Amino acid sequence: MHALLYLNTFLLCCATSIVALNKLYGISVADALFSTSTVAAAFLTGVYGSLLVYRIFFNPLNRFPGPWQAKLSSLYMSTQLGNSDEYYKLHAMHQKYGRIVRIGSHDLSITEPDAMELAYGTQSKVTKSSWYDTDSPLCSMHTTRSKALHDKRRRVWAPAFSDKALRDYETKINVFNDKVMQRVAEFSGGPINVTKWFNLYSFDVMGRLAFGKDYGMLDSGEKHMALQLLSDGMQPLAYLLPIWLGRMLTAIPFLGAGILKFLKFCVDELSWRVEHAREADEKGSTDIMTSLLKAYKDVNRPEKDALLQADARLIIVAGSDTTAAAFTYLFYHLACDPEQVKKLRDELRPLTQGDWSDTNVRHAPHLNGAINEALRLHPPVASGVSRLTPKEGLMIGETYIPGNVTFIMPPYVMGRGVSGYLSSAYRRTRLISSQTRQSIPTPMLSYRSAGTANPKWSSISMHSLPSQLVRLVVSARTSR
Ligand code: HEM
Repeated sequence: MHALLYLNTFLLCCATSIVALNKLYGISVADALFSTSTVAAAFLTGVYGSLLVYRIFFNPLNRFPGPWQAKLSSLYMSTQLGNSDEYYKLHAMHQKYGRIVRIGSHDLSITEPDAMELAYGTQSKVTKSSWYDTDSPLCSMHTTRSKALHDKRRRVWAPAFSDKALRDYETKINVFNDKVMQRVAEFSGGPINVTKWFNLYSFDVMGRLAFGKDYGMLDSGEKHMALQLLSDGMQPLAYLLPIWLGRMLTAIPFLGAGILKFLKFCVDELSWRVEHAREADEKGSTDIMTSLLKAYKDVNRPEKDALLQADARLIIVAGSDTTAAAFTYLFYHLACDPEQVKKLRDELRPLTQGDWSDTNVRHAPHLNGAINEALRLHPPVASGVSRLTPKEGLMIGETYIPGNVTFIMPPYVMGRGVSGYLSSAYRRTRLISSQTRQSIPTPMLSYRSAGTANPKWSSISMHSLPSQLVRLVVSARTSR
């Protein structure tokens, strides 16, 4: 958390030493520089030498397999991620080393299915890792590491994802469904860059759901600058930098510029929404902010609240990028496999006659199978989310993981590990379709409850939304 402070203090000590040697002891600047550098180098060699000795010989994680360089520093993994493809790298590492792989001096990647519940389940003793401090002191419901604060914020958020609210959003989303279908139709069966169009679509939808605003990207066919800011702001996360280094780099003005600009955009949108609150209420226009702002009704200038600012960013990031990726992959597979498109059309046509809504297609087995399969093969949060073992450690089957160890469970790797489907945890998390009793493995189910500290919240699904969107688009297409 304080790496920059340590670095500055160290440099200040060196500078003070040079000046003191020169002014107080009359030593020439060159000699003072030499002496100070020698002492500084000896100090650093001592500190880092002892660190390396510990890491090479005594670190309890040494019994876990993995590339030897990972023992020395977590920076090793960052050096492998020039193509922003951590999930591919993790896949290759797990194929080579097994289910528990050492990926950093204090970091593991685990694909043991039985660990899912222990890591992300509602009763889990595991906490969020220091990764969530990247933007500290700015923290949202998602990035807070305090379970108490997280629970408190979930109570504020809950009405925004009630059944009634979701139904209400559905009618609002329909406008965008129609628009995207119209844009697709304009290509008259020719090639179309769906990555682009689904990004524009999901960002338009999230703008509407978050702030009640239409960014008009589907109309213009152009990326709003915020979408570019979002990609720029997220890019540094791809390198999995140790948190101290990430914080130091983003403190450098031009390197942190993308993140800051995106944050400013979110704060501006929040301020706009607060200003138009009365107008929105009068129009009965519900969006996620309507619910969040209710908790601030006696607060003057709620847009100044750092938690609310961070939550405004959370809505945009959580909802748009993930949904766009899920759509893109689902349609990629459908485009590759016309047989599946036919099956979906046959299934959905009878369900979408006349005035139909999401409830008509909610339980369609093949549709759910297609969505889950796309999420299994291409989970939008592909490398998983980072957690810290409790101080007493964690038993995963017969394997003891020491306390205070950072770990991830990459869904991309797990979804592709056939053996995962045979484990008891996976059997517990299978989705049973009530209509057909056909079971579809859904590794995402337990993983989606990540961060849910209180069991009663597990009934509130923030994630029914993307599947609703997918359902709507699939069914709109098939009913044409
Ligand atoms: C396919 C689409 C989606 C995927 C794969 C996905 C995945 C995830 C994951 C893995 C987390 C946990 C992150 C962590 O613990 O660090 C999360 C949290 C969250 N997601 Fe999603 N998400 C999707 C869509 C959405 C949408 C559409 C919304 C909002 C409308 C949303 C809102 C949230 C929120 C608010 C959180 C934080 C929850 C909390 O901290 O309690 N997500 N999502």
